[in-house]
Amino acid sequence: MNNINIGKLLYGGDYNPEQWDEETRQEDMRLLKLAHIDIVTLNVFNWAALQKDDEVYDFSELDKIMNMVTENDLKVCLATSTAAHPAWMARKYPEILRTEFNGIKRKFGGRHNSCPNSKIYRRYSVHLAEKLAQRYKNYNNIVAWHISNEYGGACYCENCEKAFRLWLKERYRTINQLNKAWNTAFWGHTFYDWEEIVVPNMQSEHFESDRTMFQGISLDYARFNSDSMLECYKAEYNAVKAITPDIPITTNLMGFYKPLDYQKWAKYLDFISWDSYPSVAEDIAETAMKHDLMRGLKSGLPFILMEQTPSVTNWQPYNSLKRPGVMRLWSYQAVAHGSDAIMFFQMRRSIGACEKYHGAIIDHSGHENTRVFRECQELGAELEKLGNETLGSLTIAKVAILFDWDNWWAIEYSAGPSCELKYQDEIFNYYKVLHQFNVSVDIIGIEEDLSKYSLVIAPLLYMVKGEYDKKLKEFVDKGGTFVTSFFSGIVDEHDLVTVGGYPGKLRKLLGIWVEEIDGLPSGKENHFIYNMKSYPARLLCDIMHLEGAEILGIYQTDFYKDTPVVTKNKYGSGEAYYIGTRSNEEFYNCFFSKLLNKLEIDPILVAPKGVEVTRRINEKGEFTFILNHSEKDQKVALNNEYKNLITGVEYLKGSSIILHTKEIAILKSARG
Ligand code: GLA
Ligand code: ZN
Repeated sequence: MNNINIGKLLYGGDYNPEQWDEETRQEDMRLLKLAHIDIVTLNVFNWAALQKDDEVYDFSELDKIMNMVTENDLKVCLATSTAAHPAWMARKYPEILRTEFNGIKRKFGGRHNSCPNSKIYRRYSVHLAEKLAQRYKNYNNIVAWHISNEYGGACYCENCEKAFRLWLKERYRTINQLNKAWNTAFWGHTFYDWEEIVVPNMQSEHFESDRTMFQGISLDYARFNSDSMLECYKAEYNAVKAITPDIPITTNLMGFYKPLDYQKWAKYLDFISWDSYPSVAEDIAETAMKHDLMRGLKSGLPFILMEQTPSVTNWQPYNSLKRPGVMRLWSYQAVAHGSDAIMFFQMRRSIGACEKYHGAIIDHSGHENTRVFRECQELGAELEKLGNETLGSLTIAKVAILFDWDNWWAIEYSAGPSCELKYQDEIFNYYKVLHQFNVSVDIIGIEEDLSKYSLVIAPLLYMVKGEYDKKLKEFVDKGGTFVTSFFSGIVDEHDLVTVGGYPGKLRKLLGIWVEEIDGLPSGKENHFIYNMKSYPARLLCDIMHLEGAEILGIYQTDFYKDTPVVTKNKYGSGEAYYIGTRSNEEFYNCFFSKLLNKLEIDPILVAPKGVEVTRRINEKGEFTFILNHSEKDQKVALNNEYKNLITGVEYLKGSSIILHTKEIAILKSARG
């Protein structure tokens, strides 16, 4: 089994009864039932209570809790508690403590504080996971394992330094190979012995977190750090799997989280789960993009929204409340993009420490007569009615956007051509317009099969790893359409420049040669003519020559006036487009509306701005989600016969639906 299926969308979230007395726990059981909660994530930060010293484990409290939730018919997502080690362990074994980027060795405190390469941490964390699996394996209501919690950060301690050398030896075999990959002839860095290699941080190659003098070293350390944490996860995964092979295992991810290469991690998760905490000001398209990234990690399989706040966070600079209706709207947005669950952090608000002002279903008032409780209760009732209709449904996208962690790290370590180059922002410039067109988009990694797409967009494909260029060429050759942007095709997987002219391995496919790249300071812009209109050229301006491509846009000023900036190249039966600068939303809108038109990729439904439309499909039918994020009523014309699963209302083809602000519809239709 590789996902949870309890016959309906899961509804629940993190519950920390270890913080409460018996009476409160009993009241919680009443309240959770009232809110239609069916699953609780337990034991997320409980290690210190479970293990008092090297030998003594005490599961008596957790037993009580497990029995209580079981008697109350709750399903359990059982965490292994290894995201925060006990104080006694840190005191006895200081090697489990992390060393920060600036070289400071940490003391006990906080969480996510264990060195991923500490053998002692690994041994004790795996041991605990194993013991938990042994002890609770016969509870039929455990529907998933939750390993650790939000793996993240990095460590720069001596353990890590030693492990880094081993990791490098595996990767490069000989010190000469490593010298080549890191181009160590630069600034006299030649290494003769693996022991000479130190971690790249503020004590060595860095002068800011993203500013390094040796990109190759820093890039490998980012890979190594992600792998180190993955090893911790895998060790616990294997221990638990051996005991409960039928229970799916996950760990909660965090969307676009730079330190961990989730595309690599995803292979070792039975299903993807993630925590979504948009600020109230976040563009809904950005939240949508994060969901799509998470869905893409397992080639489109449904994921689990493991955490979101019912109302408010505590850790943003300004913690505004989710307005009435917004929690429900954003919950359905997750479902609309592929989630089979709506889960919260947390069930009851703590009374002490840094999360005491974080939202919860049960507030400090302790009763059900709150706005937040009522909204959660109503949503719970609605999900019960919805039943299993949408479960397991998939998104069918004709458009894919490439996202690659190595590329992310490399671009943002790059010294030049601009300090404002931000990979995620660039991806978003493209994603946003497609989102506005209400076209389904998959966000994919380089291993994804491209043949299912008509259009593949790879903005800022700075690093072309291995033979990825061949894969793209094959895709275009067979009739696919490819779009990429400035600063693409520049380096290989070691961040070494592909010489002979930019865009390196993509040069033939794109039919251009980029001779120079002009970095424009913030606020300064050039302009270009595209489709008989002038658009701004910002950030970077590629100066290029045609090698078979045709011109779609030309610069209007500066010494490269009248030279090409947007091009199209015919390649085999397909076409490859190059956008040699960053422009504005209007331009991307114009560019993609023409392209989508040409490729006959239609919107799921044409809807006004602020109304999001997605579609999921399973054997029961097609489900069109319409979400009115705007502040006013909106009308959407319908192109098919539908039944709204929320209201029961049926719609004829050619009719329209009116949605009040923050209202949603799930329209079911027969499979097309
Ligand atoms: C994360 C963690 C939770 C909690 C929430 C608060 O997602 O996993 O333990 O700290 O943030 O927003
Ligand atoms: Zn370490």
